[in-house]
Amino acid sequence: MDTIKQLRLGVLTSHNGTNLQAIMEACKEGRLNALICVVISNNSKSLALKRAQRELIPAYHLSNFSHPTAESLDTAILNTLHRHKVDLVLLAGYMKLIGPKVLCKFPNRVLNSHPSLLPKYGGKGMYGSQVHRSVIEADEKETGITIHLVDGEYDRGTPIAQCRVPVFANDTPQILEDRVKLRERQFWIETLGNIALAREEGTNEPMP
Ligand code: GRF
Repeated sequence: MDTIKQLRLGVLTSHNGTNLQAIMEACKEGRLNALICVVISNNSKSLALKRAQRELIPAYHLSNFSHPTAESLDTAILNTLHRHKVDLVLLAGYMKLIGPKVLCKFPNRVLNSHPSLLPKYGGKGMYGSQVHRSVIEADEKETGITIHLVDGEYDRGTPIAQCRVPVFANDTPQILEDRVKLRERQFWIETLGNIALAREEGTNEPMP
């Protein structure tokens, strides 16, 4: 596999890291022409950090415990991404906002995935089972996943890819969450595959 144009990924994640795991496996098995260069978590005890360490991927705990001011944390994250020569930053279950320095140095190069069809069911407080509970309470017949560019607000940047997931009559929030998460792992890989391919071909799609 051609590694010259290989997409260099930096992943920020807070808890379980099942999306991280799926992306790591896709890279390792050659299903995705990309390399996870670094993993950063705000949660020192996260399973996500352990998953990265297990694969010998450099993994760092950077949070407001390690860096008490927002500015110093933003700088530390930026320096870590630069040190590992990251091209594209992925927020895969990262529960914090990204600082202005990282956003400025990675313009249109920070992506988040959100487990709904944004702009529906997004924004502050819309995470975890709350998203799926709201979808069921609103009697939606479908939900989905949105991968979008990140700006300074929760779940608000331009969507670059969306996929749909059905909601069935007897779904509980947990059942729906499991169905969406299963699809989300696959969808990250499909979307990153499209980005990697476009890059090899010298275009940008689906990125701006
Ligand atoms: C994902 O559903 C993501 O969309 C949301 O948090 C979840 C993270 O799951 N923001 P995991 O940590 O990758 O298992």
